[in-house]
Amino acid sequence: MNKLYKSAFTASLLLALAAGLQPAAAEGQPKVLILATGGTIAGVANTNSPTGYDAGKVKATDLVAAVPQLRQLADCHVEQFCNIASQDMNSDIWVRLSARVNEALLKEGYNSVVITHGTDTMEETAFFLENTLQCDNPVVFVGSMRPTTAISPDGPSNLYDAVHVAVSPESQKRGVLVTLGGKIFESRDLFKNDINHVDAFSSRYNGPIGRVDAGDVHYFANPIHGERPYWGIPADAVLPRVDIVHAYAGCTGDTIDAAVANGAQGIVIAGTGNGNMTQDCLAGVKRAVEKGVIVVRSSRIPHGFVNRNHEISDDDAGTLSSYDLSPEHARILLQLLIYHISHEPSPKYQLDLQKCFESGYFVNK
Ligand code: DGL
Repeated sequence: MNKLYKSAFTASLLLALAAGLQPAAAEGQPKVLILATGGTIAGVANTNSPTGYDAGKVKATDLVAAVPQLRQLADCHVEQFCNIASQDMNSDIWVRLSARVNEALLKEGYNSVVITHGTDTMEETAFFLENTLQCDNPVVFVGSMRPTTAISPDGPSNLYDAVHVAVSPESQKRGVLVTLGGKIFESRDLFKNDINHVDAFSSRYNGPIGRVDAGDVHYFANPIHGERPYWGIPADAVLPRVDIVHAYAGCTGDTIDAAVANGAQGIVIAGTGNGNMTQDCLAGVKRAVEKGVIVVRSSRIPHGFVNRNHEISDDDAGTLSSYDLSPEHARILLQLLIYHISHEPSPKYQLDLQKCFESGYFVNK
């Protein structure tokens, strides 16, 4: 433990001690489970460098102990789910995390769940849970851009905000939410748009749907989708491999052949413009489709909709279009669709796949 962290840690403990003098959780307070998965919010500098640090180092209990004010908001319980930098997040962890959140909300009497997570892939994990959680209680993701040892860490105030959002009655039935820098986002159109700044998240369409400040939680938009999507997924599910292939000037179809050879059951093209790609790449897509691989055209452009049969004929190529979903979000939806098609081949799951992308819902519930 370096010196800087030691002093921050000591300060946290002193605060925690002070908090211990405060009354324990008041009767009737909402019960919130804080699941910690790692990221910069649990990051520690291993040198005195102002930039370098390791994500996913601080223990969940210490993160929460550093914010004794949480006691004023909720009866918080904390659990270390994993402690990784979120670039190492994967679908095996997603299915277990989703199962844990479902269990906490449906069986253990928690009112809400807050998940601390790295910002790199938060938009993906949040969208996975958006599609797989079974109830309308608030589930709020939170991270930070500066580690615990930074000159001015943003983690503690972000964590306070997240719990504040999680206990707000206004947060019910809004699906999985994400808070960062005082803004509240939905997961479907969220993306990380800044590598360094504390205000790192943006939304592809509507902007943030609300704000949280020291005083209150304010929503100024209705949810994009009135009804939550849901498709149950067992905690031991192994999701199919779905690759993203990035299009660029001169991209070649052999990258698609390689994905198929590596076992991809689905491929998302992060296309240029309206899901476009070179003719050579398109030929590769057609070869993949002939082999039974499901191919979705999405776009590397953050804003806009990839429509069917725009410049590329999806009818001819046998492809789907991602509509408003980013390549990363389209990939998650495709993983879930392929999983369910292959595990539940009953008529109930004869889906209109294109509709699933356009509506943002699985059509069969
Ligand atoms: N490696 C990144 C991650 O855990 C750090 C970025 C962050 O958490 O903000 O996602």
